[in-house]
Amino acid sequence: MLVTDGTRARRSGLRELWDSSIGKKIAVAVSGGILVGYVVLHMLGNLNSLYGPGNGDARVDDYAHWLRTFGEPLLPYGFVLWAVRVLLLAALVVHVTGIVQLRARSRAARGGHPARRIGRSFSAATTIVTGSLLLAFIVFHILQFTTLTIDVTPLHEGAVYANLYNAFQKWYFVLLYVLAVGSLGFHLRHGVWSAVQTLGFDSPEKNQAIRRTAGALAVFVVVGFVLVPVLFWTGALSAPDVANTQASITVVAR
Ligand code: HEM
Repeated sequence: MLVTDGTRARRSGLRELWDSSIGKKIAVAVSGGILVGYVVLHMLGNLNSLYGPGNGDARVDDYAHWLRTFGEPLLPYGFVLWAVRVLLLAALVVHVTGIVQLRARSRAARGGHPARRIGRSFSAATTIVTGSLLLAFIVFHILQFTTLTIDVTPLHEGAVYANLYNAFQKWYFVLLYVLAVGSLGFHLRHGVWSAVQTLGFDSPEKNQAIRRTAGALAVFVVVGFVLVPVLFWTGALSAPDVANTQASITVVAR
């Protein structure tokens, strides 16, 4: 393969940037931004559940179908969805690797002593804990709703509304999702503020407004996500229309 001098120079420039602490911080901030963008879109997409079961044609099921057929016939089925998945995975790997390496460096610089937590906000002091909880949650969550591997409640491909309804009849799933989304809120609040500082957009006059915006974004995301399990659990969102639906759906009782 022909590798030009320009390509080689660009690669070594990127390598140098990644090797520097500021380069890693920028990579963590930018990859975090991509993940935040996904989380906001995912939360808004989930709100399609609030339209209810329809007549066997729930709006959230149509939305899930649209995600898979987006770009057709120009692009093959599922192409955009897979492109987004690859981007997300890459962003996640960069984000986690960057944080782990930065922490190892700063610990080594303190002679192996952990960072002092005094004077830090709750979200700042718990970022590693909330991030680790989120990682574990994401693995569980994909196994539950995407691959349908953890089939504790009946799950059917393409029947997103029924899958959500069935899962959120169980109090322990509601609790798990509320806790996971709560962790996300704290993680976001500190992460957004840190990223803004890393990218140099902070200043003494703007800092209070930036902190408030990060807090407001966290609340917006948490409330948007939490609405779905809570409304299913309380019965505000009714059971899927089993008679008219396309998939062979079973409905579980509470
Ligand atoms: C109450 C909260 C949530 C609900 C009800 C929910 C619901 C869902 C559902 C139904 C799917 C499968 C969609 C489909 O098959 O088309 C899904 C996929 C996914 N969710 Fe969530 N989600 C929630 C929170 C989160 C959070 C907090 C994150 C990340 C921090 C997340 C990340 C993902 C990812 C990465 C996928 C896989 C997307 C794909 O198939 O490519 N979710 N979620």
